[in-house]
Amino acid sequence: MGAEVIVTKDLTKIYSGHLGSGAVRSLDSLNLVIRENEVFGFLGRNGAGKTTTIKILCSLLRPTDGWATVYGENVRSRNARRFIGFLPENPYFYEYLTPKETLDFYGRLNGLDAAARAREWDSLGELLDLHRIANQRVRGFSKGMRQRLGFAVALVGDPEVLILDEPMSGLDPLGRRNIRELILWMRDAGKTIFFSSHVLGDVEQICDRVGILVNGKLTTQGRIDELLTQHVRQVEVILAGLSEADAKAIANGADHKRVSEAGRHFVVEDPQKADALVRAAQGRGAQLVEFTPIRESLEDYFMREQGDDS
Ligand SMILES: Nc1ncnc2c1ncn2[C@@H]1O[C@H](COP(=O)(O)OP(=O)(O)O)[C@@H](O)[C@H]1O
Ligand SMILES: [Mg+2]
Repeated sequence: MGAEVIVTKDLTKIYSGHLGSGAVRSLDSLNLVIRENEVFGFLGRNGAGKTTTIKILCSLLRPTDGWATVYGENVRSRNARRFIGFLPENPYFYEYLTPKETLDFYGRLNGLDAAARAREWDSLGELLDLHRIANQRVRGFSKGMRQRLGFAVALVGDPEVLILDEPMSGLDPLGRRNIRELILWMRDAGKTIFFSSHVLGDVEQICDRVGILVNGKLTTQGRIDELLTQHVRQVEVILAGLSEADAKAIANGADHKRVSEAGRHFVVEDPQKADALVRAAQGRGAQLVEFTPIRESLEDYFMREQGDDS
C-alpha cells in the first residue's frame, strides 16, 4: 500500500448560526486516509458536507475540532498548501483576462519565473486544449471551458495532490467524459486525487475508493468492488444432470426455491447457503452450470446509504 497522503482525524465543523441561532454540525468526526496515487471519490447529496471538508483541506476554513494533514503536514501550514492543487466548485476568474494571462497570474503566485510560466502554458495549454482560446477573454466562456481553465490553474506548479470539488457538475456528457479522462491521466502521472460529487455515475467508473457522506457523517468507505460484494442479495444456481426426483428433493430445502422445472434453476435467498445447495446437488451426481451472485447495484447501495427508499 502506498504512503498516506491525506489524513483526517475526527474532523468536525460547526458553523455558528447567524445571530446566535442554531449551530449546525456540518461535518462530524470525519476520519479518512487517502493513499498515494489513489483516486478517491467523496460522495454525498447537496448539503452533506463535501465542500466544507474540501475547504478545510485547502485551509480556506478552520475546523471546529480534529485535524487534517497532507504528507504529514497540518493543512493549516504553508508547507501543506504547496502539495495541493485545488479546483473549486465554481472557479472564479478575472473575466477580462485570457486563459494565457490567467495561468501566468497563477504561475506568478506560485513563484514561477517567466521561463517556467511559459513552459506551464505550453504543457497545460496543450493538455487542456486551451491554446485555441489562448487570447479570448474568460468572460464569454462556457462552463466546460471554465472547468478546463480551472483544471489548468489547479495544475500550475505541478502539485502532488489534486482536490477537486464537483469537477463534473454542470457539464454535458462529453464534458464529464473529458474530466474523467483528465483525472485518469493525472492518476497515471502519479498524482493523488480527491474529488467530490453528488452523482454516483461520475465516481464509479474512475475511483479506487469511495466515501459516502450523509449529513456530515461518513457512513461508508471502501473499494467499490468490496462495497458491492458485501451486498450480495441472492445467488442463482443452475445445475445439469440432475434427475427430476433429485431436483424435487433438493428444491424443497427451506433456504432456496426452484424457479424453473426444466432448467434446474434455483435461487438461494441466503448467499451463505448457496454452497450447501451445490454440494447437495453434486452429491446426487449433478454438475454446476452457473453460480451467479446477484449484487445490489451501486446505485441502489448509494440510495440506501442516503436513506432514500424511492
Ligand atoms: N458558511 C456557512 N454557514 C453556515 N452553514 C453553512 C455554511 N456553509 C455551509 N453550511 C451548511 O453546512 C452543510 C454542508 O454544506 P456543504 O459543505 O456546502 O455541503 P456539500 O458541498 O456536500 O453540498 C449544509 O447544511 C450547509 O447549509
Ligand atoms: Mg459542495
